[in-house]
Amino acid sequence: MKLPPLSFLKQNNICLKIIMIVFLSCTPDRIINLCSNHSFANPTSPQLLNSTNTLSSLETDGLDGYFSFENNQHAAKDFGNIYHFLPSAVLYPKSVPDISTTIRHIFDMGSASELTVAARGHGHSLQGQAQAHQGIVINMESLQGLEMQVHTGEMPYVDVSGGELWINILHETLKHGLAPKSWTDYLHLTVGGTLSNAGISGQAFRHGPQINNVYQLEIVTGKGEVVTCSAKQNADLFYAVLGGLGQFGIITQARISLEPAPKMAKWIRVLYSEFSIFSHDQENLISSENSFDYIEGFVIINRTGLLNNWRTSFSPKDPLQANQFNSDGRTLYCLEMVKYFNPDEAKAMNQSIENLLSQLSYIPSTLFQSEVSYVEFLDRVHVSEKKLQAKGLWEVPHPWLNLLIPKSRISEFAEVVFGNILADTSNGPILIYPVNQSKWNNRTSLVTPDEDVFYLVAFLSSAMPSSTGRDGLGHILTQNKRILDFCATAQLGMKQYLPQYNKQEEWRAHFGSQWEIFVQRKSAYDPLAILAPGQRIFQKAIRNS
Ligand SMILES: Cc1cc2nc3c(=O)[nH]c(=O)nc-3n(C[C@H](O)[C@H](O)[C@H](O)COP(=O)(O)OP(=O)(O)OC[C@H]3O[C@@H](n4cnc5c(N)ncnc54)[C@H](O)[C@@H]3O)c2cc1C
Ligand SMILES: *[C@@H]1O[C@H](CO)[C@@H](O)[C@H](O)[C@H]1NC(C)=O
Ligand SMILES: *[C@@H]1O[C@H](CO)[C@@H](O)[C@H](O)[C@H]1NC(C)=O
Ligand SMILES: *[C@@H]1O[C@H](CO)[C@@H](O)[C@H](O)[C@H]1NC(C)=O
Ligand SMILES: *[C@@H]1O[C@H](CO)[C@@H](O)[C@H](O)[C@H]1NC(C)=O
Repeated sequence: MKLPPLSFLKQNNICLKIIMIVFLSCTPDRIINLCSNHSFANPTSPQLLNSTNTLSSLETDGLDGYFSFENNQHAAKDFGNIYHFLPSAVLYPKSVPDISTTIRHIFDMGSASELTVAARGHGHSLQGQAQAHQGIVINMESLQGLEMQVHTGEMPYVDVSGGELWINILHETLKHGLAPKSWTDYLHLTVGGTLSNAGISGQAFRHGPQINNVYQLEIVTGKGEVVTCSAKQNADLFYAVLGGLGQFGIITQARISLEPAPKMAKWIRVLYSEFSIFSHDQENLISSENSFDYIEGFVIINRTGLLNNWRTSFSPKDPLQANQFNSDGRTLYCLEMVKYFNPDEAKAMNQSIENLLSQLSYIPSTLFQSEVSYVEFLDRVHVSEKKLQAKGLWEVPHPWLNLLIPKSRISEFAEVVFGNILADTSNGPILIYPVNQSKWNNRTSLVTPDEDVFYLVAFLSSAMPSSTGRDGLGHILTQNKRILDFCATAQLGMKQYLPQYNKQEEWRAHFGSQWEIFVQRKSAYDPLAILAPGQRIFQKAIRNS
C-alpha cells in the first residue's frame, strides 16, 4: 500500500476547493466529473486527515491485498455512465480478512470519520450505486482467485467468491455437467452485485430470481464481523442481504444451487400485433406444466433491428423469411421462448414444442427458430457487447428504467406507455414478461408488487453522447419521468427494480410495509451507515469536531 505523500495532497488543493464548494451548495448527486484527474480529499479537513490516518494504520496491520490512492477514475464510473463520484481509495482485497479489517477500522472510528465503503462488483450499476464519494471502494473482483468448489450429489451446489462473474461460474460448473438454475440476461456481472438486487431473467417464472437459489452466504457486516448465514443459521441476516442493495454487509462467499446442465437450447421467437393476445399467451405459458425453460418478450416500437437487436445474437434459421416480414409501422410484441434439450432427446423436444406452440395465437407467418448451444444462449448479450464496443457504442450513458407492474394493470400500462408516451421510437430494447412470485421467498429484502403475477418491464435505453435530440440523455430522462409520473398518477402499484431514488421519503414509499424491518436490519448490521452509500438510502452521521 502506498499512502500519498503530503505534496500530493497539497497539489490537489484547487481541485478540492471546487469539490467543497459544490458539496456545500448542491446535492452530491450533481457532482459529475468535476475533478476527474485527482483522487484525494481535502487535506485541511480534520475529518479527512483522520481518515488518512485510519488508512495508514491499516497498512501496519498488514493486508494481503493493497490500497490504491491514485488513478482511481475507473471506480467513479459505471455502466450507467451518468454519475461519477471519486473515492479516496480503492482496496484490492486478496482475502476476506482484508475486507473485515478495513471495515472494522472504519467502524471503530465511529462518527468521527466520514469514510464510507462501497463494494464494487463489475460496476454495472446505473446510478453510482457501487461508488463511494470520497470513501473507499472495495474491488470485489480481486477476490476472484478463491477457488470455486463444485459439490455434486443429490442437491448439487457451488461455493463461489462474492466477486465472481456468473460467466466464470457457468464454465466451471459445466465441467461437472451442472449449472445454476436462474440467470440474468447478461453474465458479466458478479454474484454479489446481482444477489444484492435479485437477478431476474426468463427462468425466474419457474425457479424464482437468483436470490431464491442460494443456500448460504458469508457476509462481512458494517461492523466488520464475518458471519456465515443461511435459512437456518443467522436467517435474518441471510434474508436481509438478499435483495438488500448492499446495505447490510458485503457478500464474500455464496453457495449457489445447481441442476444438471442441458447441452442445447431451442430458441424461438414469434410476433403479435395485439398486446392483449401477447400477454394472455405469456401468462398461460408461465403457468402451464412442462412449459418452456425460459420465457421473455419485448416490444418493437420501430422496425429498426426487428429480430436482431443489440441484446441478442439470435439468428433465425430462415433469415430470408425474417427479413421479408413487414410490420407496416405497427407496434409489435415479440414472445421469446427457449426449451433446453440434449441431442438424444431432440424428437421428444420437438413434440413438446409443437404442443406448446399449438396453444399460442401469434401471427402465423412469424415463427422464427434457432438452435444453439446452452452456453451460446446464456452468453448471448456478450456477443452484442463486443460488437457495440468495437463501434464505441457500449460506453455511452444508459438511462435505464426497470419496473415491476401488477398483472391487473399491465394492459393499461401498455396502452399508455407503448401507445402514447413512446409512440414513435424507443432508444433501446424494451423487455416485458410476467413472473409468478407465489413460490418466491418473501423474507428477502426485495420489494415487489402486491399481486402474485407481475410483469418486469425494462427500458434499456442508450443515449448518444452530446445529442440534444430524441436519442439524447435529456430527452430519454424526460420520457422516463413521464412513465414514472403515469404510474404514480394512475396508482398502478408499480415497484421499481434496481430502484433509483434520492430521498428517504421515496425509499420509505418504495419499501412500504417493509420499511420498518429494513431500518431495523440496518441498525442491527450497519448501524453507522458505512456501506453502499451510492444507493442514497441512509446517510452516515458525522460528528463535527
Ligand atoms: C448489460 C446488462 C444486463 C443486465 N441484465 C440484467 C438481468 O437480466 N437481470 C437482472 O436482474 N439484472 C440485470 N442487470 C442489472 C445487474 O444485475 C445489476 O446492475 C447488478 O448490480 C450488476 O452487478 P455488478 O456486479 O456490476 O454490481 P455493481 O454495480 O458493482 O454493484 C451493485 C450494487 O451491489 C453492491 N455490491 C456489489 N458487490 C457486492 C458484494 N459482494 N456484497 C454486497 N454488495 C455488493 C454495490 O455496492 C452496489 O450497491 C443488467 C445490467 C447490465 C449492465
Ligand atoms: C401462480 O402460482 C400459484 C401457485 O403455483 C397458482 O396457484 C396460481 O394460479 C398462479 N397464477 C397464475 C396467474 O398463473
Ligand atoms: C424508425 O425510426 C427511424 C428513426 O427515428 C425513422 O426514420 C423511421 O421512419 C422509423 N420507422 C418506422 C417504421 O416507424
Ligand atoms: C425437430 O424440428 C426441426 C425443425 O422444426 C427439424 O429440423 C428437426 O429435424 C426435428 N428433429 C427431430 C429429431 O425430429
Ligand atoms: C410469505 O409467505 C408465506 C409462506 O408462503 C406466507 O404464509 C406469508 O403470508 C407470506 N407473507 C407475506 C407478507 O406475504
